[in-house]
Amino acid sequence: RSIHSAVSRSRSHLARRGYATEPVPERKVAILGAAGGIGQPLSLLMKLNPLVSTLSLYDIAGTPGVAADVSHINSRSEVAGYAGEEELGKALEGADVVIIPAGVPRKPGMTRDDLFNINAGIVKSLATAIAKYCPHALVNMISNPVNSTVPIAAEVFKKAGTYDEKRLFGVTTLDVVRAKTFYAGKAKVPVADVNVPVIGGHAGVTILPLFSQATPSANLNADVIEALTKRTQDGGTEVVTAKAGKGSATLSMAYAGAIFADACLKGLNGVPDVVECSYVQSNIISELPFFASKVRIGKNGVEEILGLGSLSDFEQEGLEKLKSELKSSIEKGIKFASQ
Ligand code: NAD
Ligand code: LMR
Repeated sequence: RSIHSAVSRSRSHLARRGYATEPVPERKVAILGAAGGIGQPLSLLMKLNPLVSTLSLYDIAGTPGVAADVSHINSRSEVAGYAGEEELGKALEGADVVIIPAGVPRKPGMTRDDLFNINAGIVKSLATAIAKYCPHALVNMISNPVNSTVPIAAEVFKKAGTYDEKRLFGVTTLDVVRAKTFYAGKAKVPVADVNVPVIGGHAGVTILPLFSQATPSANLNADVIEALTKRTQDGGTEVVTAKAGKGSATLSMAYAGAIFADACLKGLNGVPDVVECSYVQSNIISELPFFASKVRIGKNGVEEILGLGSLSDFEQEGLEKLKSELKSSIEKGIKFASQ
């Protein structure tokens, strides 16, 4: 599903409802960490998105160059680069969507949680600025460990009195992208037609693809499902190992981040039935306060958290197994933010 075809589908829907002459609304998207491995290709993809009117590229350094480069592309959005903390306010003011791929990536042998000590502080300071300069923006958290950085941002927003649980999203789209790709390969179905929900969180066993609900359905045996599940859970590590010290997924993540931000923009613009998987505040799925599942995104952010549907015994076991790790990652984030 390309961003362009998704956008033209949404336009034709508006046309059917009789709003054909309504202009596409002005939307400002800010990317924090825009000069990084994810940030640069994500800036490119968001520059290609016709739903964006202002693209604000922020990093601690390097953004003037990225912004000058991307700004020459003949697409709708105006581009501005901001570098250094003193420019963060300007970068954020008026933003409708803020995407955060700021922070250090893994090297071989590390878990995502090993990034906590550095990235927790970065996320805390960026969330503090969001609360001050664009408290109503939809926040797309990419920085790892997502299982903890989303609770950190929630706590910062709560302290600032700006928290709206409908507007904070952990980006787990890359897990869905991987599950779709790996499933299509084994099921021998066209990858563009595939849908697979992925629930839980975004680290190791907390990533739980629901292949029993994959469409188009295929009769894969239990060993294949188990191997597909493991490969999806270890997808990030597969890339970290292949990059051999040069970081983690950047290009596939930029693609996934662009898909998710596009869904947020469509939701804000009133396009109906925008559904993506995301890690959000959620109390209907499990006893845990944050959980990834399918959510419907609308004008106010999360409009509805969709249930899990029926799970196979293997998935039910996976669900029970993931809870303790997810719980401790959430608690670690909350504890850090309240210090
Ligand atoms: P990178 O090192 O290439 O880029 C990170 C960028 O963040 C750098 O440009 C750096 O200058 C910037 N940065 C650091 N501190 C900052 C601050 N205070 N404000 C603004 N920018 C700041 O790393 P990357 O490969 O782009 O990965 C970024 C993060 O995304 C990592 O934490 C990684 O683990 C995570 N990630 C998440 C997913 C996911 O599925 N959610 C996928 C891939 C990577
Ligand atoms: C991924 O899933 O690729 C990211 O979370 C990066 C990583 O460290 O694996």
